[in-house]
Amino acid sequence: MGIPFPSEYLQAMGIQQWVPRDGMAAVSAPAQAVEITTSPEIYVPQAGEDAIALLDWPALEARVSTCERCALHATRNRTVFGSGDRSADWLIIGEAPGADEDRQGEPFVGRAGKLLTAMLQAVGYRRDQVYITNILKCRPPQNRDPSSDETACCHAYLERQIELVNPRLILAVGRIAAHTLLGTDTAIGRLRSSVHHYGKDRIPLVVTYHPAYLLRSPLEKRKAWEDLRLARQAASGG
Ligand code: URA
Repeated sequence: MGIPFPSEYLQAMGIQQWVPRDGMAAVSAPAQAVEITTSPEIYVPQAGEDAIALLDWPALEARVSTCERCALHATRNRTVFGSGDRSADWLIIGEAPGADEDRQGEPFVGRAGKLLTAMLQAVGYRRDQVYITNILKCRPPQNRDPSSDETACCHAYLERQIELVNPRLILAVGRIAAHTLLGTDTAIGRLRSSVHHYGKDRIPLVVTYHPAYLLRSPLEKRKAWEDLRLARQAASGG
C-alpha cells in the first residue's frame, strides 16, 4: 500500500525533494537495515487491572472517560481516548494530550498533530487509516512530562488498546512514548533506526521524533522521514 514519496506531502513536512540531474532517474536511498532488538519489558498487569484487560472497545472507552486513577482527572477538561481505525495496521502512540486535545477530546489535533498527519500521509496513510492514542489519556498541567505514577495508572488502558487493535506496527512518537514502551531511558537518537519489539506478541515497534520537536528543529524532519520508511518496511514484514 501507499504512495511512494508523494512530493506534496514531503513539502508539507518541509522536506526538500531531490530532483534528478543530467537526465538520471531519481534513486531513493534504501530504507535502513532492519535490526532486531528486543523490548526488555513485557508488561505484567498490576492488581485490579485484570478487569481492564477484558473490556471491549465501548466499555474501555467508557471506563477511561470516568477514570480517577490519578490526580490528572482533577485538572482535565476531557479524557483523550484515541481515534482512528480500531483494526489498523499502524498504531501511533504519543505522549499525552496537550491543550487542544484536552479541549477537543481527540489526540494530535494541534500544530504537532497537523505535522503528524502530514508525516503519515507521506507514507500513504490518512489519519483515519491508523489508530492514534497516547501514553496518558489526560493532560498533565502546563504540558509537563508525565510522572511515573501517572504512566503506571494509565498503562492498563494502553495495554488493552494495543491488544484490541493488534497492529502490525507500533510507531512510538517521541521520547516519553519510546521510553515508556521500551522500558529504557536510552536517548531517542539511539533508539531510532532500529526495529524493536513490544510485548509478548513481539509487535514490531519503531521510534521517531515527536512532531512538536520537529516543529522546533525542522532539520530533523529528514530523519523522521527515514523512520517512517523503516516503519513501513517493518510493518510489511521486511
Ligand atoms: N502531543 C502528544 O504527544 N499527543 C497529543 O495527543 C498531542 C500532542
